[in-house]
Amino acid sequence: MATERTLSIIKPDATKRNLTGKINAKFEDAGLRIIAQKRIHLTKEQAGKFYEVHASRPFYDELCEFMASGPVVVQVLEGEGAIGKNREVMGATNPADAAPGTIRAEFAESVGENSVHGSDAPETAAEEIAYYFSGLELVG
Ligand code: CDP
Ligand code: MG
Repeated sequence: MATERTLSIIKPDATKRNLTGKINAKFEDAGLRIIAQKRIHLTKEQAGKFYEVHASRPFYDELCEFMASGPVVVQVLEGEGAIGKNREVMGATNPADAAPGTIRAEFAESVGENSVHGSDAPETAAEEIAYYFSGLELVG
């Protein structure tokens, strides 16, 4: 499988509980390399643009409020099949359905406040990485 890059976000519920290091350890233990990382505080508008694909969903407004409610850590993860591997390490969207040992099973508080975001396909990964990082910030 080819080397891929994916966009990861450690969400406000997790930064608030000081879980950045524990979550990063899960990525690294799975063979994913954190090749770029920064802690930022999104505005609701910036969160809304990022999650625009969900604009018509009933949870959209609450999701944007939540993503702007505190700092997030945005990251680029790299590795073999990184997009799918990251989704495995994250676990299912709803922590009640997430497999044991996954980030969401261990740390998520609810289906909304579920600790991490991960891109779902090569096209979205490329778009999402470009939303947060310039080429100069991706040193490999
Ligand atoms: O994050 P993931 O790709 O697993 O799920 P999604 O379907 O792309 O949804 C994006 C985010 O919206 C989720 O991670 C949740 O934070 C939120 N969400 C929610 O609040 N309620 C739902 N029923 C589904 C998603
Ligand atoms: Mg998604």
